[in-house]
Amino acid sequence: MIGILDSGVGGLSVLREVKSLLPDHDITYIGDNSWCPYGSKSYEEICARTFALTEKLIALGAEVIVIACNSATIAAIEALRAHFPISFIGMEPGVKPAAKHTKTGTIGVLATQASLRGDKFHHLIAEHAKDLRVITQPCPSFVELIEQGTLAGPQVESAITEYTSTMINAEADVIILGCSHYPFLRPALAQQLPENIHFIDTGAAIARRVSEQNLRPSATPNLQVLTTGDPAHFQNIASQLVPELIFTCQLLDLSND
Ligand code: DGL
Repeated sequence: MIGILDSGVGGLSVLREVKSLLPDHDITYIGDNSWCPYGSKSYEEICARTFALTEKLIALGAEVIVIACNSATIAAIEALRAHFPISFIGMEPGVKPAAKHTKTGTIGVLATQASLRGDKFHHLIAEHAKDLRVITQPCPSFVELIEQGTLAGPQVESAITEYTSTMINAEADVIILGCSHYPFLRPALAQQLPENIHFIDTGAAIARRVSEQNLRPSATPNLQVLTTGDPAHFQNIASQLVPELIFTCQLLDLSND
């Protein structure tokens, strides 16, 4: 089984890519909605939480786990790999493809505070974009809006203006969607920002890495979706974000573990 985890509904942007590439595999997704957002929390807190969700996924039979959350990847992936005897696939802002694509030499990075403040992010910039102008921007309201299913309208428009004005004025032509939630605002971003802006979303690349694991398909592929929050709310938002995916969300109670 392929395990996928995120702080909430954001990782559904990765789940839809994995499911589309590997439709015949068992998948279990955990959204840690009762603890969302991760982006404003400390690395220690994010790491402890990610360990608890990983233990759950392994107990349920995960053979590989996708950390479909940039913040959790940055905070925990090395510790996870050192501790658990299975493969982990993490997510990080797509600086390398962005650097290849820019013509103006300026790129914008939208991500959480947790993703942007770490050494890992600074190493990514040093490795792939040291000669470029890189403008970073945490976007906490994006996660709040997506978690409540608001993908368009005045609140979204004003958040987009607030978070992208500096990079647009600096002539960024590539914007990295460096948080798994943000692809759900891509239509609103594309509508509001200049036409030449190219968006980088690494969901499809993550799915390709999962396919390289050569896991056995299942005769009766099962999609299990769990949340530590309110399953009815999750189901409602998910039906808007990923209507193509059919599942019944169930409660995951971590309090007895
Ligand atoms: N979706 C997550 C990420 O990719 C975290 C968003 C949040 O919980 O702040 O970083």
